[in-house]
Amino acid sequence: HDGGRRHDPRPARRVSSDNVTWHPGQVAREDRPSAGATIWLTGLSGAGKSTLAIALERRLFDFGWNVYTLDGDNVRTGLNADLGFKPEDRQENLRRVGEVAALFADAGLICVTAFISPYRDERTRARAAAGSRPFIEVWVRSPLEECERRDPKGLYKRARSGALKDFTGIDRPYEPPDADDLVIDTQQEGIEACTRKLLDFVVGEGGLVGPRRR
Ligand code: ADX
Repeated sequence: HDGGRRHDPRPARRVSSDNVTWHPGQVAREDRPSAGATIWLTGLSGAGKSTLAIALERRLFDFGWNVYTLDGDNVRTGLNADLGFKPEDRQENLRRVGEVAALFADAGLICVTAFISPYRDERTRARAAAGSRPFIEVWVRSPLEECERRDPKGLYKRARSGALKDFTGIDRPYEPPDADDLVIDTQQEGIEACTRKLLDFVVGEGGLVGPRRR
């Protein structure tokens, strides 16, 4: 059979060569031991995306899911080491991550992503890349003043002083989600409550992938 992917309502996207054809596999989606999904966290630097992502990953893992986190800082040391923070670099960063998350989901993994992902269009593209697999967009929300107060890496301070350019929230925009499935307010609640809320949502209402092992 066709690997479960040929009939996906994946959007047409620009492919540089006319001479490539999708080659279907012989392992269908239903054949795999687990189903995949993407949980896409977006928000300002210092809002708590990475903290929440790794807490969620741990909990899902303990429940028996195959889960893996893609984190902005980490991915930028490898796959995306060639990219900076200009708008086109961020777009390419997020395009690649959206595609990798879609491949992970295809392979039956739950992929948690933690990227500022400041542009609505790029988040929409990541959702489109997921095709018919679950894609849950979570706005990890904290006011700029609070992120700046936390400033875990000292980057806001450097951005304010002008030593660091193109910093989201300071001299680059953050476009708040209008397609989010869930908002987690990390100023109002602590990490434990936020993790629980996120977990409840993705395994409950979010309809995360049904049975964790088929
Ligand atoms: S995104 O905008 O392309 O989605 P991404 O999440 O990958 O950003 O990377 C953000 C991380 O890179 C931040 O957590 C911060 O540690 C670091 N960083 C370094 N320079 C910048 C900058 N100019 N703007 C935002 N984050 C930066």
